[in-house]
This record gives sequence, structure tokens and C-alpha cells, in this order.
Amino acid sequence: MTNRTFTMLKPDAVEKGYIGAILEKINAAGFRIVAMKMTQMTKTDAENFYAVHKERPFFGELVEFMTRGPIVAAILEKENAVEDFRKLIGATNPANAEEGTIRKLYATSMGENAVHGSDSDENAAIEGAFHFAGREMF
Ligand code: RTP
Ligand code: MG
Repeated sequence: MTNRTFTMLKPDAVEKGYIGAILEKINAAGFRIVAMKMTQMTKTDAENFYAVHKERPFFGELVEFMTRGPIVAAILEKENAVEDFRKLIGATNPANAEEGTIRKLYATSMGENAVHGSDSDENAAIEGAFHFAGREMF
């Protein structure tokens, strides 16, 4: 069944000029871009987006990082989108990410790990709706 996931190219990836290279990997892996924009999250945006992590010790650092510059947000469509995209991006810590994954290639640390991928169909829908209006999805 065709379904959707949500991604953000994080501030570190945008700062380093990796937008094109990462989108190329996403295209090559067979994802269709349903929605896409460059935007910068406010502190409140990031706190709400990552609310599930608010009790974690790294929460402050995560919000600081995610708001320090622009991101590229996108909704992607493919069969088995959530799971396949998590495979394409690799482990949260790039040191543990498999060869050829986006995080292995473009991330520098656990915190600055280049890209976000939704962890369930339910969260993909919530996260997509957080960033995009219905008329921005194609
Ligand atoms: P994401 O949500 O961004 O796709 O990453 P993920 O599922 O692989 O990892 P998750 O556990 O959801 O953590 C969200 C983001 O928080 C930062 N983090 N830092 N310093 C730390 O120990 C730590 N742990 C997590 C990372 O930027 C991670 O992507
Ligand atoms: Mg996550």
C-alpha cells in the first residue's frame, strides 16, 4: 500500500549545503515529493514538534539546534514509506548508521544528525499537518 512519511532536512544539513545531495538520495530511493518547503521553526514550534521528548535531558539542546537556522520540510510518498525512509536515513547516531545511509554520509553526531524521519504512520500524519496546509500537499 502506498503511504506517506514526513521528513525535515535539519539546520546542520542546510548550513553545509547538503539539500541537493540529500534530495537526490530521496529521489533515487523512489520517494515521491508530496509537499516541500524551506522554513525556520520558532522555539515554540520545536517544543511542540518534539513534545514527546520534553522530559529528556537533551530536550533544550534539541530545541536550540532545530531553531538555529532554516530546515527543509517535506512529505514523501512510497510503498511502506515510514519504515523504508527510516532505513534510508540510518541510525539516530551516525556512528552506528549503516554505510550509504543519509546519516552515515551527512550527519556529524547524535544531536546534529542531518535529517528527521517519522517513526509511525500516525506521527507522519501529525507531523505533516504540523508543517503543511491541505492546499500545499500534491
Ligand atoms: P528524529 O525523530 O529526528 O528522526 O530522530 P530519531 O527518531 O532517530 O531519534 P529520536 O529518539 O526521536 O530523537 C530525536 C532527536 O533528538 C536528538 N537526540 N539527541 N544527545 C542525545 O542523546 C540525543 N538523543 C536524541 C537527535 O537529533 C534525534 O534525531
Ligand atoms: Mg524520532
